Amino acid sequence: MTKERGRFVVIEGIDGAGTTTQSALLAARLRKSGLLVRTTREPSDGPIGTLIRQVLTGRVVVPGGLAPGWATMALLFAADRMDHVESEIEPFIAGGGIIVSDRYDASSLAYQSVVSGRSSSEAVEWIRALNSHALRPDLTIVIDLPADVAAVRRESRGEAAQLYEQHEVQRALAAFYTDLPKHMPKDRVVMLDGQGTIDQVSERVFTAYSSKS
Ligand SMILES: Nc1ncnc2c1ncn2[C@@H]1O[C@H](COP(=O)(O)OP(=O)(O)OP(=O)(O)O)[C@@H](O)[C@H]1O
Ligand SMILES: [Mg+2]
Repeated sequence: MTKERGRFVVIEGIDGAGTTTQSALLAARLRKSGLLVRTTREPSDGPIGTLIRQVLTGRVVVPGGLAPGWATMALLFAADRMDHVESEIEPFIAGGGIIVSDRYDASSLAYQSVVSGRSSSEAVEWIRALNSHALRPDLTIVIDLPADVAAVRRESRGEAAQLYEQHEVQRALAAFYTDLPKHMPKDRVVMLDGQGTIDQVSERVFTAYSSKS
């Protein structure tokens, strides 16, 4: 007998919105009810994802001491995504499991288009084309949080700022995420309020998961 296919759920938001916190909580809650769940993330833990993390933390630069440009990053993220799908997501959902991914291709559309300096629609179209073979999530949950609230949360975490964490970039990203359903019209996208306690947001995430799956 073939196993019923599992589910692929993505949590998105700006830096500090709580995507890592909420991915872990959703996975834990689903596991408690006896489901087979795995959390993954982008950049992934594979070889290309590891390289991207080194760029984001300033450990990989191009001549001149700068980070690789937005188009190079968009290509790296798209390559990492295919590896993430092939090596982690697809085998797990084929076996009936639920993948909860901390970020996916909405992050590429948001981050690389915002930092491109191009007209948003031109960059978005190109990034969308790069990702046209990426498996579609069953559900994308966006944690909506103002950039200044997210900045306070990131500061309380006490880690060094990464590439893309400047305030103006984060404000533009928050605006992009608010419009995400327009940019991904064929996908199931649920926006939810990221303000309030971790437990309150977790409750909203679970409601979004339950109502859309
Ligand atoms: N609802 C909340 N209220 C207060 N603090 C929160 C809330 N959600 C998360 N935090 C805290 O804010 C910080 C950022 O959360 P988290 O690391 O989950 O964000 P993130 O979206 O994964 O960030 P990044 O994109 O930088 O990885 C953490 O210290 C976390 O404990
Ligand atoms: Mg995180």
